[in-house]
Amino acid sequence: METEKLHVHTIGCQMNVVDSQRIAALLKPMDYTMVESPDQADLVVVNTCAIRAKAEQKVFSFLGRLAKLKARNPELIIAVGGCVAQQEGDRIMRRMPSVDLVFGTHAIARLPEHIARIKTRKQRYVDTEMMRGIQEFDTPAWDGETGKVSQFVTIMRGCDNYCSYCVVPHVRGAEVSRKPENIIHEIKALVKKGIREVTLLGQNVNSYGIKDGECAFPELLSRVNAVKGLCRIRFTTSHPKDLSDALIRVFGSMEKVCRHIHLPVQSGANRILKQMNRRYTRELYLEKIEKLRHRCPDIAISSDFIVGFPGESDREFQETLDLIREVGFDSLFAFMYSDRPSAPASRNPDKIPEKVKGERLQALLDLQEACNTARAAALIGSIEEVLIDGFSKKQGQTHGANREVGKGIQWTGRTSGNRIVNFTLDDRNSPAPTFHPGDLVAVRIEKAFSHSLWGKPVD
Ligand code: SAH
Ligand code: SF4
Ligand code: F3S
Repeated sequence: METEKLHVHTIGCQMNVVDSQRIAALLKPMDYTMVESPDQADLVVVNTCAIRAKAEQKVFSFLGRLAKLKARNPELIIAVGGCVAQQEGDRIMRRMPSVDLVFGTHAIARLPEHIARIKTRKQRYVDTEMMRGIQEFDTPAWDGETGKVSQFVTIMRGCDNYCSYCVVPHVRGAEVSRKPENIIHEIKALVKKGIREVTLLGQNVNSYGIKDGECAFPELLSRVNAVKGLCRIRFTTSHPKDLSDALIRVFGSMEKVCRHIHLPVQSGANRILKQMNRRYTRELYLEKIEKLRHRCPDIAISSDFIVGFPGESDREFQETLDLIREVGFDSLFAFMYSDRPSAPASRNPDKIPEKVKGERLQALLDLQEACNTARAAALIGSIEEVLIDGFSKKQGQTHGANREVGKGIQWTGRTSGNRIVNFTLDDRNSPAPTFHPGDLVAVRIEKAFSHSLWGKPVD
């Protein structure tokens, strides 16, 4: 019998990327085969994001596209999950008559039973119940697709920080940490399937374990560091207020922990940080950066910024630019502030016009471009350890199991500091060594571009 076809469409952050993998893993035993396009599917699951108004608009325009497909194929089942599902619940059903199922951020484990019910009873259904446990985390998210080198591992769910602009605590619920033994079990299984690098995920991994009486985050890292066969550990996101001295000491002492930290600051102005409910000052942030660099001089630092938060003055925005100059970030993400109805900042009437937000965003990105170029150029001449994750022949890029040897191939991978490095072999490398995705290779950096480095492997 021919199996039914499943398409999973993901909008949003890394959490959603892993949740989508878990959704696919949960539905496969119901005899679904994954397909690349919704046009061929019998079931489409849309995993949604509510972080900014634009992300939400993307969801509804995709649902509009699916409604047209359903008009041609009435048997198509449409399920909407993730953060917009949690936020809107029943309202999605009213606005989008073609949707069969709305399932919230805590309903992933119940998805198979909901799909089965819809198939037999042909009834629409909404499940936005929030749960205390986090049992669905223990469904493996990844089914062993060969050749993959790196995988996300969710270590906690939800957020208790309530930054005043942010929808996440409202749609993902309170912070809960997974048990360390379950995390280690998952990572060991991943390593058996060939994974060499894990990225531990949570909205604020720095507070891992504390509330639930598990071990603290540095202790978890030390347990992950001991997993044989794993060669790199990354984690995201860190909250500056919870970045402890013990965690700072991890850099440079645990050999598998990459020399990179993503430490969102959001603004360089104390009044705005206070209004954002971030619970640190510019001075405290700079002090943590200094400690990190003292401990690990070549650590790469990246961050997130919001421009045009209600009431942000020109002078306050200049303080943000000054902070960027002072820190010298390796990379950053910047966003125009977007009102989220459930977040208290949306009730602040001091809105910044869209045009001003756009100008501030551009000024910030221009400054960072210069900063990034300088940071990348400083790497020329250094020898970086690169974890290979793919290669390309003359055309096209291949990430996967195909194993290729020799010259005429361009390899690609990342440094510990998370920069992309491309390199080729030439006559200097004779006889030509054999590389595979997953290998760690020492590469001398010869050229620096804004989004990648170029080099040659050294013996
Ligand atoms: N938990 C992480 C990530 C949260 S979402 C953290 O605390 O950093 C990722 C980024 O989206 C945030 O860091 C912030 O820069 C941005 N963001 C969140 N809400 C936003 C909003 N309402 N408008 C614009 N950007 C927002
Ligand atoms: Fe949102 Fe703040 Fe929690 Fe990050 S820490 S998810 S920005 S509330
Ligand atoms: Fe978006 Fe939800 Fe992630 S709102 S950023 S998908 S936690």
